[in-house]
Amino acid sequence: MNILVTGGAGYIGTHAVVELLDSGHNVCVVDNFCNSSRISLARVQDITGKSVRLYEGDICEFDFMAEVFEKNDIDVVIHFAGLKAVGESVLKPLIYYKNNVEGTISLLRAMNSAGVKKIIFSSSSTVYGEAVMPVSEKSPRGNPTNPYASTKKIVEDILLQISQTDPAWSVGILRYFNPIGAHKSGLIGESPQGIPNNLLPYLCKVQLGQLPFLTVFGNDYPTKDGTGVRDYIHVLDLAKGHTASLDFISKTTGYYVWNLGTGVGYSVLDIIKSFEKISAVHIPFRFSARRPGDIASCWSTTEKAEIELNWKAINTLDDMISDTLNWLRLNPVGYN
Ligand code: NAD
Ligand code: WQD
Repeated sequence: MNILVTGGAGYIGTHAVVELLDSGHNVCVVDNFCNSSRISLARVQDITGKSVRLYEGDICEFDFMAEVFEKNDIDVVIHFAGLKAVGESVLKPLIYYKNNVEGTISLLRAMNSAGVKKIIFSSSSTVYGEAVMPVSEKSPRGNPTNPYASTKKIVEDILLQISQTDPAWSVGILRYFNPIGAHKSGLIGESPQGIPNNLLPYLCKVQLGQLPFLTVFGNDYPTKDGTGVRDYIHVLDLAKGHTASLDFISKTTGYYVWNLGTGVGYSVLDIIKSFEKISAVHIPFRFSARRPGDIASCWSTTEKAEIELNWKAINTLDDMISDTLNWLRLNPVGYN
């Protein structure tokens, strides 16, 4: 199939593009590189030996998007493009609504004009908010605690309403849990700009000695050791979740939601322990107060994706950390 991948130069996008190319699909990427590098796509081509058609531009630009659809006979869109930093979204809500919501509307209008009605959207476990664990696709979505989460909820609603109005649409909502890890080749991985907010990228900087210690946000949560628990999933498993959902939605119409997680929660201390074991480097850390907006625990059920998509995450936490460390060893400054 001919697949348009928005945000295909980013962390998850590059891994998904590799998986798509390896599965025999033709891939066209739209990216404005606001949070990524051209090098990542060159590396994708090195890994797969296949080429990707790149359109550099902003999904918010309707005319640009319409042209991409005119020039390519697209069957399905996989929509990763978006801003994702929770803290930044609190400081710059309008930028987040413009990019993530207006950008998606522009994309959907261009799809409509071209008669392309199949889309997979990168949503997030963040839509569940403070919920009873584990969360399943039937769990109610919570009240968004930040503009980023709000944009994911709004886009999910827009896609639901479109598919209710026009039954020709086929929509797959993928709610990712906490993606970490990197490609086994060490050629592609996560390359955050500036000081990272997320746990694994922060740990990497501490391991490299670029930051002095990790701050563990809270040791008084009602969890096994008091620190926050999350469902970390290898980005390669996540990428396979996209090809599995692509197979599903390409054969049907309607609106479908799948959680992409492992079903297992690990605490911050578990992660530090595994990171130290695999890297053989001591990670200095200090406890501090809880980070505003954080929840104690979040992990997923896995049955729906297993049954409907025949997909299950297979990489262990040790795999995720050793692949992260391999990427880090080969690219200590990311793509820079
Ligand atoms: P990323 O920032 O690495 O990738 C996003 C890509 O989209 C980047 O290449 C960026 O340049 C591009 N982009 C952003 N706005 C654009 C625009 N207006 N026009 C064109 N390109 C644009 O992020 P990621 O971690 O790969 O996340 C991909 C998607 O998955 C995002 O929608 C994110 O919200 C969602 N998601 C991520 C996580 C996570 O923890 N990484 C978890 C849940 C959901
Ligand atoms: C994991 C755990 C922190 C950093 C975020 C977004 C979410 C989704 C995934 C996109 C928590 C603790 C972290 C640090 C720490 N993204 N921590 N010290 O918060 O689960 O989810 O990324 O959709 O929307 O909110 O991920 O990696 O930031 O935190 O102690 O320096 O590590 O408190 O318990 P989070 P994270």
